Amino acid sequence: MGALAKLNERLRAKPAAHMLVERLSIAYQTPRGPFRAVDDVSFEVAAGATLGLVGESGCGKSTVVKSLMGLLPEGTSVSGRALLNGTDILGLSERALSDVRWTKIALITQSAMNSLDPVYCIGDQITESILAHERVSKAVAWARAEQMFEIVGLPGSRLTEFPHQFSGGMRQRAVIAMALSLNAGLLLADEPTTALDPIMQDQIMSRIRSIHADMRRSMILVTHDIAVVAETCETIAVMYAGEVVEAGPTAQVLQNPRHPYTMGLQNAFPKLPVRGQSRMPLISIPGTVPNLLHPPVGCRFAGRCPFATDLCRSEAPAKLSNSISQSAACHYQDRASEFRAIAQKASTWRHKDG
Ligand SMILES: Nc1ncnc2c1ncn2[C@@H]1O[C@H](COP(=O)(O)OP(=O)(O)OP(=O)(O)O)[C@@H](O)[C@H]1O
Ligand code: SF4
Ligand SMILES: [Mg+2]
Repeated sequence: MGALAKLNERLRAKPAAHMLVERLSIAYQTPRGPFRAVDDVSFEVAAGATLGLVGESGCGKSTVVKSLMGLLPEGTSVSGRALLNGTDILGLSERALSDVRWTKIALITQSAMNSLDPVYCIGDQITESILAHERVSKAVAWARAEQMFEIVGLPGSRLTEFPHQFSGGMRQRAVIAMALSLNAGLLLADEPTTALDPIMQDQIMSRIRSIHADMRRSMILVTHDIAVVAETCETIAVMYAGEVVEAGPTAQVLQNPRHPYTMGLQNAFPKLPVRGQSRMPLISIPGTVPNLLHPPVGCRFAGRCPFATDLCRSEAPAKLSNSISQSAACHYQDRASEFRAIAQKASTWRHKDG
């Protein structure tokens, strides 16, 4: 067997990761006090499975992802546990974390393309990251980089080029190739393809999907695109204002949401047109998210929820303790089917003074 085949075999044999996040809370330190960006969040990613993390801008998705990579700013307070195959990675020292990063957990962010170093050719940057973790020759690492380049649709011959010779989308694909090259058990993909054009987004997502299925990797996929979650993720966790408000198997949650926020989120996305039916109009959720310097006492969605009652405004619903079976952090989960019917009407979401 050739040296590259041996390396590939070794990478393929890596175990799929199991990630259990329990009661994760994160507060950024700000001049105006602690900003509770993530509050008591729990979810699980089964070995070889993909979890979709969705929710509107600022709800804390990237903060969760950064905490798992140990990339939060110094001074940020973090509590809870994040067990990667049984080891809590939240408490690891910087040195221990550097062994975990890229070999056990890899991250691709929306702006990853900016992380390439302008003074080295792209091939050198990918091979350096392979050589830092695997005992192989430079030639083998280069051959592995060529393979990964081809997976993301770039010719291996362009590995000798420098970042400025690539377009933004090509740089992003190069970084995706780099992140995939060590075949980490868990991939954190934070809007990995947002910077790419729609056709390329589809191609790259389907490549990532097939690598993951083939290699039995696990993934947390952060995206605004519910259709991508429906296609890619076995489970979904919907975040709102720093909390997971609904989670469970993707098909169940998207077909029969139990939390009014998930119902509203669905209305805000274009549905696939069904033959013989007119397209549903897109309905947005009026209002703004609460200020997390001073979170409200009751349900955080109460200010925007068409079903809010006095109970909602005075008492917070119980937090979710897992993401495996469907559950929602709402006082009125048992009225979900009644709410769903009402939530489909645009008039339900009209602003009180609009
Ligand atoms: N370093 C920081 N200091 C203070 N607040 C921060 C910091 N980083 C993020 N935040 C705040 O934390 C909240 C969550 O941010 P985060 O980036 O996790 O949101 P997100 O869900 O990823 O949003 P988007 O979809 O726009 O990427 C936001 O209100 C943001 O302003
Ligand atoms: S608890 Fe009340 S305010 Fe919160 S989502 Fe449920 S119905 Fe709406
Ligand atoms: Mg983000």
